[in-house]
Amino acid sequence: MVYSRGAQQHYQPRPLGGGGSHGRGQSGGSYQPYQPHTQRAIHQNNHQQQLQQQQQQQQQQQQQQQQQQQNQQQSQLSGQHLALSQAQANVSTSAAPSADGGQGGHLAQGNSSLQDWKAQLKLPPTDSRYRTEDVTATKGNEFEDYFLKRELLMGIYEKGFERPSPIQEESIPIALTGSDILARAKNGTGKTAAFCIPAIEKIDQNKNAIQVLILVPTRELALQTSQVCKELAKHLHIQVMVTTGGTSLKDDIMRLYQPVHLLVGTPGRVLDLARKGVCNLGECTMLVMDEADKLLSPEFQPLVEQLIAFLPDNRQTLLYSATFPVTVKSFKDRFLRKPYVINLMDELTLKGITQFYAFVEERQKVHCLSTLFSKLQINQSIIFCNSVNRVELLAKKITELGYSCFYVHAKMLQSHRNRVFHDFRNGACRNLVSSDLFTRGIDIQAVNVVINFDFPKNSETYLHRVGRSGRFGHLGLAVNLITYEDRFNLYRIEQELGTEIKPIPPQVDQTIYCR
Ligand SMILES: Nc1ncnc2c1ncn2[C@@H]1O[C@H](COP(=O)(O)OP(=O)(O)OP(=O)(O)O)[C@@H](O)[C@H]1O
Ligand SMILES: [Mg+2]
Repeated sequence: MVYSRGAQQHYQPRPLGGGGSHGRGQSGGSYQPYQPHTQRAIHQNNHQQQLQQQQQQQQQQQQQQQQQQQNQQQSQLSGQHLALSQAQANVSTSAAPSADGGQGGHLAQGNSSLQDWKAQLKLPPTDSRYRTEDVTATKGNEFEDYFLKRELLMGIYEKGFERPSPIQEESIPIALTGSDILARAKNGTGKTAAFCIPAIEKIDQNKNAIQVLILVPTRELALQTSQVCKELAKHLHIQVMVTTGGTSLKDDIMRLYQPVHLLVGTPGRVLDLARKGVCNLGECTMLVMDEADKLLSPEFQPLVEQLIAFLPDNRQTLLYSATFPVTVKSFKDRFLRKPYVINLMDELTLKGITQFYAFVEERQKVHCLSTLFSKLQINQSIIFCNSVNRVELLAKKITELGYSCFYVHAKMLQSHRNRVFHDFRNGACRNLVSSDLFTRGIDIQAVNVVINFDFPKNSETYLHRVGRSGRFGHLGLAVNLITYEDRFNLYRIEQELGTEIKPIPPQVDQTIYCR
C-alpha cells in the first residue's frame, strides 16, 4: 500500500525549544533543536546553559567596556594596544592561540576604525562541542590573512567562523588568484565558504552584471547555499539570487530585471533562463560547481555543458566535492585551465563518525528502527530509504509506532519540500525520512544520527549520506540496516572507502556521538 496523502500528514509543527515531546519514549529529555545563532551544543545540561549565559553577559560587558575604552582612546590617542588585543579577543573566541600569541600582530597597526568594526560585531555564541582533526588540523591561518574586504570579514565572523578550516585555507588564497580549482575535501568541512568567500570578494558591486554562477544539483541545496552567500555578504551591497525548478519562471524573469551579482541555481532552470535571453551570463567570470561529480553525472552533464557555452571563455572554474570518481577527468581536461588540484582526503570517512551495521531480515527493519529510537540519544536523525515509495511507507510506519517524523523526496510539491526542510532545520521534528534528495550538501548541525534503513548501492552515496551527521568535525553515528542481499555491497563499500563498519553492540556508548 502506498501512503500518499501528502506531507501534511506528518507535518506537525511544534513550538521551538528544548524538551518538547517528540514521540513515544524517544530520549526526549535531551532534545535541543538547532537554531541558527543560538547554542548548538547537543545534550547540554542546565549548568552548561547557565555558564553560557554568564559568558554571553561577560562578552556584552566586555564589549561595553571596550567601547568606553575606545572612546577614551580617541580623545587621548594612547593605549591602543590594549584595546586592540581586546578587540582581537572578542573575535578569536576559540581556545587555540594565534601564531603571534594572541596579540593580533597582523592587526597591530594602531588603527582606531579597525577596533571599531571588530568591537561592533554581533557574534553568535561559541559552539563548544568537541571537534575532530578533520577541521582542527589547520596551518593556523586567520581570515584576515587573505586581505578580504572588511565588510566580508564582518559577515564571516558574524556567521560564527573564527578561523578558516583546512579546505578554506587551501582554497581561498588560490581562488583569489583567479586560478581554476578542483578540490576534494570531506563532508561538512566547510567547502561552501571555501568557494563563497573568494566569490563574494571578487564581485564588483558597482557593476550591474551576474559575475558568479554557483551550480548545485538540488533545489534545497541551492536555497541553503544562497542563504550562506547572503549571510556572508550581509554587510556588502551584493545582490544574491537563487533560481531552481519547481518555482515560478515568471517570478525569476521579473527578478532578473533587477541587479543580480551572484546567481545560485540548479542547471535546468539556469539554462532555461539563459536560453530565453533573460539571464545574461556574458560577464560571469566565475563558475562554481558544488557537488561537481553529481553535476557531471549523465543526468546533469549535458545541461552543464550547454550552460558553459553562455559563459565567457576567460572564466574561472571551481569544482568541489567530497567524491571525485574518474569520470570527472574528461570534463576537467576539456573545461578547466591548468586547474590547481586540492585533495584533503588521504582517508575518506570522517573521524567523528562511528559506523555500525545491524544484520536484519527485511520484515524486521521497522522493529529494529524502533529499538534504535528507544536506545539511542538521537538529537536529530535522517533516515534514508532507496525509493520514494519506501520513504512514504516508512514515514507512515514510524508515525503508527508513535514517533513523529517528517519525510521528504523529490516527487513532493516544492512548497512541501521547502516547508519540511525549513521546519526540520529549525528543530520542529526529531526524525526525517528521506530519499537521496538530502544525501548531498544538506547541512543541519543538530543531526547526530544517520540511519540507512535501506543500504545504498555505491560508496559515493554512502559517504555523502553518512556525512549528514558529524558536521564541521562534530561527532555522529551511522547505523546501517543490512539484509542478506546487502552483504556484498557492505563488503565492497567498506573496501572502497577503506573503513570499518562494525556490528552494532547491545549498548552504544553515548560519548562516541554526543559530545
Ligand atoms: N571556518 C569555519 N568555522 C566554523 N564553522 C564553519 C566554518 N566553515 C564552515 N563552517 C560550518 O560547517 C558546516 C559545514 O560546512 P559546509 O556545508 O560548507 O560543508 P561541506 O564541506 O560543503 O560539506 P558537504 O560535503 O556535506 O557538502 C556549516 O554549518 C558551516 O556553517
Ligand atoms: Mg557542501
